[in-house]
Amino acid sequence: MANEARIIVEDKEYTCPIITGTEGEKAVDIRALRGDSGYVTFDEGYANTGSCQSNITFIDGEKGILRYRGYPIEELAEHSTFVETAYLIIYGELPTCEQVEAFSSRLARNAAVPNDMEHFFEGYPAKSHPMAILSGLINSLSCFYPQYATNNHQEDLANFDEVAAAALSQVRTIAAMSYRMSQRLPYIYPKKDLRYVENFLHMMFSEPYSEYIPEPEVSKALNLILLLHADHEQNCSTSTVRMVASSEANLFASVAAGVCALWGPLHGGANMAVINMLEAIHADGDDGSTFIADAKTGRKKLMGFGHRVYKNYDPRAKIIGKACERVMNNLGVEDPLLDIAKHLEEVALQDDYFISRKLYPNVDFYSGIIMRVIGIPINMFTVMFGIGRMPGWIANWKEVAEHPNGRIYRPRQIYVGENQRKYVPRDQR
Ligand code: COA
Repeated sequence: MANEARIIVEDKEYTCPIITGTEGEKAVDIRALRGDSGYVTFDEGYANTGSCQSNITFIDGEKGILRYRGYPIEELAEHSTFVETAYLIIYGELPTCEQVEAFSSRLARNAAVPNDMEHFFEGYPAKSHPMAILSGLINSLSCFYPQYATNNHQEDLANFDEVAAAALSQVRTIAAMSYRMSQRLPYIYPKKDLRYVENFLHMMFSEPYSEYIPEPEVSKALNLILLLHADHEQNCSTSTVRMVASSEANLFASVAAGVCALWGPLHGGANMAVINMLEAIHADGDDGSTFIADAKTGRKKLMGFGHRVYKNYDPRAKIIGKACERVMNNLGVEDPLLDIAKHLEEVALQDDYFISRKLYPNVDFYSGIIMRVIGIPINMFTVMFGIGRMPGWIANWKEVAEHPNGRIYRPRQIYVGENQRKYVPRDQR
């Protein structure tokens, strides 16, 4: 079989090489097409565009497969922790005992935000959305660590271990501080001897004279949620990180942009939207059937369902769905929202509207229910997604920064506006 594609435009033929990924994915390499033919390809929403070659994460949306650095998500979810998986995603290999120890110590050393940054929180109105604070403050870290944020990729890479640890560790501290500020509660500082997830819960829920000690089930559930969000190839926020990084922007600026992209309800904001939807259904006394009927006519959207890439069950949703039941049982908690969610899923998976469009539960469908049970307030849900996604953003920034022939990301467009207009002086309009 020829390893090239032929494109005929206005009777002229152009050959384009075929690129094959390690999992057999094929792409037509059209990089020379515009130069040769004057034509660009048009792919609004990029659903059919490979924007980069990457070693980090593989998804087969048709089969419902997700692997980080070649390891199945199911195995990592069962055996690994968020920190170990973060190391894997960022550095490409599972760490040895010594490596994970050194990585954890680096995270612990980098856990506290710079002193002067504390005042920033107080400047925000009490009801500020923590995603706005998170992106603003992560970007501000570049002012406090100018040696790591030179906007020269070679120099920034020389300090990569430190800057990556600062971003990964402080995203969690900033998140907890923004929550404490919104509640007008005193800040709780990170403790060196606590592990990543336990330290986050401590900064969220301890009080000056009473330490919050989480149930092991709670830490385990949060570890799992973060791990399952750790990377997901070229989604909206990760593509944003790569786009910003391609201009040689530093890591803090690039991942802060990722936080902004994550905020919207079609991406990371969906986990909040799911809970709002379930609460509204519960308040209406509906079991979800009316909502499903409305979703089919386009009046409503079944949040936590559907995915650009998965045309099968999102493997993360399967893992979270099971974990949700386990956490509830082990903590002895009952939540009517779980019953509604399960009913919605059951009905949707048998309904032709959802079947024909290949709409299945995604990662956000059950994650909010677990977060509610472990005490995370609803407006922090998307922030939790951001903490989880940080390893993926960092690894993608690194891949862009290390690319030997990296070019700035700069798509084309098809201009459809007015043309050839003549300027009319203001007093004659
Ligand atoms: N509820 C009801 N219908 C849905 C739907 C949902 N959650 N998601 C998609 N559809 C329908 C669309 O209306 C469209 O129907 P049509 O063919 O009759 O026009 C069809 O399914 C294809 O959807 P489309 O919007 O083209 O898919 P997309 O790839 O552009 O969008 C999402 C993917 C994730 C943005 C979309 O499924 C969605 O908005 N889901 C809810 C939000 C969510 O959970 N996001 C988190 C993703 S991890």
